[in-house]
Amino acid sequence: MKNKIKRIGVLTSGGDSPGMNAAIRAVVRTGIYHGLEVYGIMRGYSGMVDNEIQKLESRSVANIIQRGGTILKTSRCKEFFEPGGRKKAFDNLQKHGIEGLVIIGGDGSFRGAQIFSSEYDIPCIGLPGTIDKDIAGTDFTIGFDTAVNTAVEAIDKIRDTADAHDRLFIIEVMGRDAGYIALHSGISTGAEHILIPEKKTSVIDLIASLQEKEKRKKLVNMIVVAEGEDFGGADELAKHIRKEMPNQDLRVCILGHIQRGGSPSCFDRVIASRMGYHAVECLIENTHNVFIGIVNNKMNYMPLNEAVKKKQRISEEWMKIVKILAT
Ligand code: F6P
Repeated sequence: MKNKIKRIGVLTSGGDSPGMNAAIRAVVRTGIYHGLEVYGIMRGYSGMVDNEIQKLESRSVANIIQRGGTILKTSRCKEFFEPGGRKKAFDNLQKHGIEGLVIIGGDGSFRGAQIFSSEYDIPCIGLPGTIDKDIAGTDFTIGFDTAVNTAVEAIDKIRDTADAHDRLFIIEVMGRDAGYIALHSGISTGAEHILIPEKKTSVIDLIASLQEKEKRKKLVNMIVVAEGEDFGGADELAKHIRKEMPNQDLRVCILGHIQRGGSPSCFDRVIASRMGYHAVECLIENTHNVFIGIVNNKMNYMPLNEAVKKKQRISEEWMKIVKILAT
C-alpha cells in the first residue's frame, strides 16, 4: 500500500472567480486538520515552473472567505503546456516534497493537470473555479452565482435608464464560449432577447421581432448577448440593427470584468468550502485525477479527462421560456 500523503499543494489557475479564496481556505484548513502540510503555489502553474511555493498555515487563510480574486494569484501559463515547463514544475514540487495537488480553475487548467499527472504520476484533484459554468459534471461552478448576480444588478440599473428614454439596449456579458451567464442574467432581468453560442440566432427573426415591437410601441427592449455568440458580440449586433432600423434609439453596454470581481455570494462560499474539503479527503484516500462537482446537491466525482472534454447542454425548454415570458 502507498504511504500516507504528507504534503499537498494548492493553486488557482486561469481566470479568477469569486469564491476561489473560500476554496483555498477549505483546502488549507482541512489539510491541517488531517495533519498534512499545505503549500500555496503562486500564479497558477507559473508558480510551479518558477518555484514560487510557500507553506500555508491556518492563519494564512484567515479573513479571506469574503474576498473576491485569489490570494494565490492566477495566470494562464504557456510554459506549463511545454514538456520542459512541466519538468521544471515537477522538480520544484519534489524540492518541497509535494505529493498531491488541488487545482482550482477551468477546463484549460484541468487539461494541464491531466497531462502533468499522466507524465509524473502526481495525483491531481480539480475544483471547478470559473464564472462561465462551462464544465460538465457539476450543476454549478465556483464564481458563477456571484458573477451572474453582478450582471443582474447591472442590467436592472440599465433597465431604469432604458425605460426613462424608451431605448433599446444591447448588453454583452462574459462566458467565453458558453451562454450560461447570458441565459441566467437575461431570464432574471426579463430580457426581451437572449443570444447565446449554444443556439444559433436568426438575426432576420430578431429584426422582425424588434420591428413588430416598434409598431406596437414597445420601445424598451433589452437584448442580452453572450460574448461568444456567433454574430460577433454586442458591437456587431448593434451595427447590424442600426443599418436595418436607422431610427432605433440604441445603446451598447459591455459589462466586462466587473463580472469577475466582488465578494462571493453565500452560495459560492458554501460550494467552494464543500468542494475544498472533499478535495483533501480525495487526496488522503489516494484518489487520483478526479474533478469534484456537485450534482443535485451531492458531491460528484468525474475523471479529470472526462471533465475536460464535456460541456453542459442548454435544452430547448430554456429558450422557450425566454420567448414566452418576454412578449
Ligand atoms: O473564463 C473566465 C473569463 O472571464 C471569460 O468569461 C472571459 O472570456 C475571459 O475569462 C476573459 O479573460 P481575460 O481575463 O484574460 O480577459
